[in-house]
Amino acid sequence: MYQAPRGTLDILPREQGYWSYITQKAVAISELYGYQRIDTPTFEDARLFVRSIGEETDIVEKEMYTLEDRSGDKLTLRPEGTASVCRAYVEHGMHTLPQPVRLYYMAAIFRYERPQAGRYRQHHQFGIEALGDSDPALDAEVIDIAWQFYVNLGLRRLSLYLNSIGCDTCRPAYLDSLRAYYSQHGKSLCPDCRRRLLRNPLRLLDCQKSSCIPLTEQAPRSIDYLCDECAQHFDQLRRYLNLLNLPFVINHRLVRGLDYYTKTVFEIAPEGEMAAQATIGAGGRYDDLIEQLGGRPTPAIGFATGIERLVLNLKKQKVAVPVPPSPAVFIAYLGQEAKDEALKLASLLRKSGHGVTLTLGDRSLKAQLKQANSTGARHAVIIGEDEVRGGTVLLRDMDKGEQETIPLDKVTEVLSRVMV
Ligand code: HAM
Repeated sequence: MYQAPRGTLDILPREQGYWSYITQKAVAISELYGYQRIDTPTFEDARLFVRSIGEETDIVEKEMYTLEDRSGDKLTLRPEGTASVCRAYVEHGMHTLPQPVRLYYMAAIFRYERPQAGRYRQHHQFGIEALGDSDPALDAEVIDIAWQFYVNLGLRRLSLYLNSIGCDTCRPAYLDSLRAYYSQHGKSLCPDCRRRLLRNPLRLLDCQKSSCIPLTEQAPRSIDYLCDECAQHFDQLRRYLNLLNLPFVINHRLVRGLDYYTKTVFEIAPEGEMAAQATIGAGGRYDDLIEQLGGRPTPAIGFATGIERLVLNLKKQKVAVPVPPSPAVFIAYLGQEAKDEALKLASLLRKSGHGVTLTLGDRSLKAQLKQANSTGARHAVIIGEDEVRGGTVLLRDMDKGEQETIPLDKVTEVLSRVMV
């Protein structure tokens, strides 16, 4: 028997209530803050992601789904959304629009990861990107959207972690001091971290191995190495976050797994949950990325949140989500002539906006009414042989269990009256 590929999920009808709840809130908050929707292709030139996410990252080294198409082009299923949005910004000359350009997206994301609860090989993100402004007030806006989105969803007890990892001017000195510090402890580092020490020292800080965690506590902190511009940006951002009453915790170990970040980085996770797969949303500034992709220097910041993780947390916190409505009317019938009337009536009712489920085949009236009950219909219209002959139907109120005979041509009118 075939099964869904490892690390992927079927989103069954019983789960769809969560998904429509989340996506509707995502659209609503985006529009509230003036963000416009963008959709980019599911796959892109592989080099776009290598260039933007960084060659030395886990994503590029081990997690990309890359294929060669028939013309020999290397294409990658998008492992995140930011690079594609930046590519589109440059390609469509969005620098000519009023800045910042505020965009949001909802997209399937593909990463070849080790599947576990909250970590999948295909997941979905709601993300926003604000491109073309360096003002720390824009960082505060993006963080505010993320936070208010979770509040609107009804999630509670979340923590916002914040850090600044500086820029090209100040980061080299910080990396030198990180290398110097970790080199003294080379022997106690895990094999991955020994490699990171040579190739991507920032990532040493978010190693989850118990042998490495104690070392990171004493490690040099990026905010002690910020240049004046980055330090000022970080000060301003904290001031704005305070102004907006957004509670944050500075986390010196927060460095993120993608190489394009500069200055601000942040993550939001359920209180007290430290595992990487607990993080529900994350983002940061990427002031150099658009230039690296061939555009003009364009400071930008964004954020993305995993929809599957939101569903998990909504369930964990027992947030009730609206159940998508099912048709309010069920039509049951007996005999071919009644079936003909039932088909015509269903069509008529739907045209006037009433949701209708129609039984099919040759079931007993009892079985049909049982089905009407299980669909959650409020009213059943019953057409038997007598009704066909008399040009009437039986209209049954499913909750009260009461029924009355009404003329067939009055059904739409009566239902419109009783449904308000
Ligand atoms: P990210 O931290 O890699 O950032 O992913 C963002 C969110 O996607 C995570 O916080 C998590 O909720 C969800 N997520 C990531 N990987 C998985 C997975 N394997 N299974 C389930 N959920 C997952 C980015 O992708 C950046 N593009 C965010 C950003 C936007 N930065 C600036 N703009």
